[in-house]
Amino acid sequence: MRSITISDLKEPSYEMNESMNVLRTNVSYSGEGVKLVAITSVDENAGKSLISFEMMRNYAAAGYKVLLIDADLRKSVFSARYGATADDSQKFIGLADVLSGQGEINDAVYKTNIPNAYVLPIGSYVQNPTPLFSGKIFTAMLDVLRNTFDFIIIDTPPLGRVIDAAIIAPNCNGSIIVVSANEVDYRQVNDAKNQLLRVGANVLGCVLNKVVEENSRYGGHYSRYGSEYRY
Ligand SMILES: Nc1ncnc2c1ncn2[C@@H]1O[C@H](COP(=O)(O)OP(=O)(O)O)[C@@H](O)[C@H]1O
Ligand SMILES: [Mg+2]
Repeated sequence: MRSITISDLKEPSYEMNESMNVLRTNVSYSGEGVKLVAITSVDENAGKSLISFEMMRNYAAAGYKVLLIDADLRKSVFSARYGATADDSQKFIGLADVLSGQGEINDAVYKTNIPNAYVLPIGSYVQNPTPLFSGKIFTAMLDVLRNTFDFIIIDTPPLGRVIDAAIIAPNCNGSIIVVSANEVDYRQVNDAKNQLLRVGANVLGCVLNKVVEENSRYGGHYSRYGSEYRY
């Protein structure tokens, strides 16, 4: 298996770590078979990629063999944000290559320098990735990965922009909607939830992100798993 080094790793804040513990607990109580989860949002910048990454770290630290799939083929931030490079200095083979039949899944899953954490990066640029998620290769790939990992997180593009997440989500055991506090209103979140339900996705709940806690001695933003929007 190829490997990558993620060089830009800042320790999660106390609040982030606590929130991720709560999220992991809630996900585990949402059903026994829930091991493949799509992270969605209404719009970009909600914090999907950040939450996906922090979930990966949290699950890995808790002893799960965890895989993060970067499925935002249009706006991937993973390698730039975390300074991730392949240890063999070759370019990444990733999801786009596998789904287009140009690469093997075994070459596209990378072991990371975080113990227990694995990543499936985007790989090659494709102009219109949507059809790739509707193909048989995608579901076959997920079946293989399901048997290899204890938990899989799929970071998806925003529901309000492209249809990809609505195609991806029904193939998962659950979907989580990341909601950026004060940036979207309840109706938009409700629409996103209904969109997911219509395609048969199992909506687990929301993560309320970028919450600013006035009286927190740590200050700043953090995220918490919200039951506010649970239906
Ligand atoms: N809880 C948070 N605390 C601080 N910054 C955050 C938080 N969540 C997201 N951000 C920042 O907001 C921006 C968008 O987050 P990102 O995860 O890329 O969103 P998305 O994947 O939904 O487009 C990034 O700069 C990220 O660092
Ligand atoms: Mg993102």
